[in-house]
Amino acid sequence: MTTPHRPKPFCTFTTPAMWNDPHISAHMLANHLDPDSSLASRSHSFIDQSAEWIISLLRLCSGDHVLDLGCGPGLYACRLARKGISMTGIDVSARSLDHARAVAVREGLPATFV
Ligand SMILES: C[S@@+](CC[C@H](N)C(=O)[O-])C[C@H]1O[C@@H](n2cnc3c(N)ncnc32)[C@H](O)[C@@H]1O
Repeated sequence: MTTPHRPKPFCTFTTPAMWNDPHISAHMLANHLDPDSSLASRSHSFIDQSAEWIISLLRLCSGDHVLDLGCGPGLYACRLARKGISMTGIDVSARSLDHARAVAVREGLPATFV
């Protein structure tokens, strides 16, 4: 009888599979885009205030560059880009990136999503 293989902790990297799972990513995006939901991100009114707070704290001006790691569908990045701040958003979720890119293209925002 062979001993069952027991994987070592942290021996596999499941991040892309988890965030790109069709079911999970669809519900994540729906929650991100629900203005009242705080499940995937924060409510949109809270994000509005956070974006203003970030701009004020960092004294960001039009033309500045900001990197948003784990940007999701660009809720923060697009708010900053609407102020002329040049945004680069990075995320592992293809569905979220597609949404962020669509918003940026539709509004002509200075934002790139990778
Ligand atoms: C809870 S969401 C928050 C998104 C955004 N920061 C917000 O508050 O609206 C977390 C995001 O992190 C991304 N993420 C998680 N691990 C990541 C990794 N290792 N590299 C890139 N993105 C990652 C997910 O795809 C997801 O879009």
